[in-house]
Amino acid sequence: MTGDPVPPLGRLTGADVRVVQVDDYFSCPLFDAYERAVERRIGETEWDLAGIRRTVEDGDRVLEVGCGPGRVVLDLLRTYGSCEVTGIDLSTVAVARAAGRVSEIGEAKRADFVVADMTRWDPAGRFDVAVVADCSLNAFATEASLDTLLDCLASTLVPDGRMALSIFDDGAAAELAGLDGRFTVDTFTTDDGIGYACWWAMAFDPTERMLKRSVFVQTSVGAPSEGVLCTMVDRIWSPSEILPMASRRGFEVHDRVPGSVDGGSAQGARTVTLVLQRTGSRPPSTDG
Ligand SMILES: C[S@@+](CC[C@H](N)C(=O)[O-])C[C@H]1O[C@@H](n2cnc3c(N)ncnc32)[C@H](O)[C@@H]1O
Repeated sequence: MTGDPVPPLGRLTGADVRVVQVDDYFSCPLFDAYERAVERRIGETEWDLAGIRRTVEDGDRVLEVGCGPGRVVLDLLRTYGSCEVTGIDLSTVAVARAAGRVSEIGEAKRADFVVADMTRWDPAGRFDVAVVADCSLNAFATEASLDTLLDCLASTLVPDGRMALSIFDDGAAAELAGLDGRFTVDTFTTDDGIGYACWWAMAFDPTERMLKRSVFVQTSVGAPSEGVLCTMVDRIWSPSEILPMASRRGFEVHDRVPGSVDGGSAQGARTVTLVLQRTGSRPPSTDG
């Protein structure tokens, strides 16, 4: 439940604008087209890849939760010649794109994709490593939902399994405070050459650490005009909140790989990839 759109996008509900609300940004083809246009413009982000590579070893069976269009899956397949990667995501649109990209580089045999909610998925086998990249953990916006996710991750892993969790670092909430009240307009062109305008409005509550973003793309002009609206809510989890939760499940920190976001609205915010391993298990090598 995401609630009302962030102002001023809430005002779009006027009679002269016909608004189609979508619940899932990543499953909407129009927003996927916007993401692809942004990727073409600035390239894919790389801020968390070093920490994820450091967690994985060649030959590992890796699970990426929230794989989206395959940024991390592709990087791992290219970096490690004999690891196998399974990507799971709620979005059929994103998974189709990821699978297509993996086929394009001739690595379809080492990759597998599942369209499902990670917290309801029952895998047939166990993984050596589970990865949650790109602050995707923040989509699990309540402590209960994060607890469920961490339980699922822990039970998905072999006994000496590892996790890589890429999130904003402690203190980044102060940096994200600058997003509160931000209202921006962007433009993009889809593959068929149609140009669109795209409005973003953001609100950040530093006490609850909740970031709310609404995005609207106008799809027709004239009266009434039409457009697609989506509102997303993220809880900005910090390492000091995540580590005790991981510890209760038997994981300790092997490494913390610092970074900073290299694209998008949170550009420059400090991040960390937490490299976690089950207590007593063999540490991952540090030369990846
Ligand atoms: C910020 S995107 C990250 C995409 C990709 N990992 C990357 O690094 O580019 C977050 C992704 O998590 C997915 N997601 C959110 N909740 C999920 C869930 N419960 N199970 C599976 N995927 C989920 C979304 O559909 C979305 O594609």
